[in-house]
Formats: sequence, structure tokens, C-alpha cells
Amino acid sequence: MVSFKLLSLAMLVAAATTQEVKLRYMPFGDSITEIICWRAQLWEKLQTTEWSTVDFVGSGRNENYCNDNKYDRDNEGHSGFLAIDIANRRQLDGWLQQNPADVITMHLGTNDIVQQNKAVADIIKAFTTLVGTMRTSNPKMKIVVAQIIPMGFGNYNTKIQELNRAIIPWAQGLNSTTSPIWVVDQYTGFSGTSDLRDGVHPNTSGDTKMMNVWYPALVNAFAEAKKDKMAALEARGEVKFVA
Ligand SMILES: *[C@@H]1O[C@H](CO)[C@@H](O)[C@H](O)[C@H]1NC(C)=O
Ligand SMILES: *[C@@H]1O[C@H](CO)[C@@H](O)[C@H](O)[C@H]1NC(C)=O
Repeated sequence: MVSFKLLSLAMLVAAATTQEVKLRYMPFGDSITEIICWRAQLWEKLQTTEWSTVDFVGSGRNENYCNDNKYDRDNEGHSGFLAIDIANRRQLDGWLQQNPADVITMHLGTNDIVQQNKAVADIIKAFTTLVGTMRTSNPKMKIVVAQIIPMGFGNYNTKIQELNRAIIPWAQGLNSTTSPIWVVDQYTGFSGTSDLRDGVHPNTSGDTKMMNVWYPALVNAFAEAKKDKMAALEARGEVKFVA
């Protein structure tokens, strides 16, 4: 009995020092999360790092013709969806029940503005509901929220910039150390002409720009999520850190 216990502890310690902590990451949003290739580029970039085991999660797994048959396609991008509708219909609640996550990215608001000219204040209110859902699902959820990319048609970018400005104080107001919100700027440096394939969705150049903006924030979020998981294992006596 004793030796079995010692053995299993030793095995757990060994496991914990290698690829012990399996993290789950949900890419959440609309078509700019669903029918794009920044997820493929992101997954590829992570393969050369300690985060190669991060499991992308979500109910969607469409082929996006990214010339990549290896990447983890799972995502929660829903083409055409408004943040306001997702919040009002409580859809994220079910999506996270089906696929819990440690880390989530959110790029939303484009359809609210482009399809239905919703008020920025109402989009922000929906974001608050969505963050509430994330934290109900996982009180330690690490959240990365995008200031969204510009459009290449119409006169939407003034309002998009208005939303993007509102995201900063909103995120600061909801921030917490257990469930931090990091805001990343997907607008600045993104061209409404040469980074979009159809006026809305990134082409290869836009995908790379988006991936490069998500990447440092995500790696930081993974590190924070891993710390939580290691601390939880240690608290249960399953892992001992050897300095
Ligand atoms: C939220 O807090 C974290 C530290 O826990 C910080 O890195 C981040 O910038 C804060 N977010 C905002 C929007 O200020
Ligand atoms: C992206 O699309 C724009 C037009 O939609 C084009 O001018 C540009 O060359 C494209 N770039 C890449 C890398 O696909």
C-alpha cells in the first residue's frame, strides 16, 4: 500500500514536470474566428513551443482551406452572429458546458455594427454578460478580448473604433486577478484593403497579423492558467516542486 502510494506519487511528479497540465483554449467569436486561417497559423506557431499540447476546443470544426490538415480546428466561431444575440440567448453558457476552457479569446461586435447598427453601449453590455458566463463556467477563466479589425467597405470603421475605445475602460472595470481580461488591439496596423479578402475576412496577410497580435497575449494567458493548475495539484499534495 505504502509503496504503491509512493510509486503513484513519483509517477505524478514525473508527469507534472513534463507535459502534466493540459490546457484548453476556446477561440470564440463570429466568422472572423470561424472562417479564417489565423487559428491554423496560431496552432502551427504553438507547436514549436511548450504550449504544443494546448487543446483548442469548441463545437465547430469546418475545413477552412488553410493548406493545413494538421491543426486543431475546434473553435466556437459562429458566422453572422451578434454579441448581443449570443448574450441574450445565453448561447455561450451551453457552448462552455459542452467544451469547458481555461483560456478564451473573444473577437465580437462586427455583426452588431455592420448588420444591425447596434449601440456601442448595448454591445458592451452583452460583453459583460458573456464575461459573466465565462466566469460562471470557470471562475479562473483567462480572457483575451480583441479590439476588432476594421471593415473594408461601408462607413463602419468610425463605430468600430468607438467600440474599440469603449472596450478598454469596460475591461478595466471587470478585471480581476483570478480571472484577468487582457485587451489586444487587432485594429491598429490592420489594413481594411490589403489585409482583407472580401472586405470583412482576413486574407493570408491579415491572418498573420491577427495571429501575431493574439500570440503574446495567449502565451501569457496559458502561463497564468498553468500556474493555477499547478497550484491546485500542489494543494492536493499530488505534485511537489523540486527547486
Ligand atoms: C487586468 O489585470 C492584469 C493583471 O492581472 C493586467 O495584466 C491586465 O492588463 C489588466 N487588464 C486591463 C484591461 O487593464
Ligand atoms: C489580400 O487581399 C488584398 C485584396 O483583397 C490584396 O490586395 C492582397 O495582395 C492580399 N494579400 C495576400 C497576402 O493575400
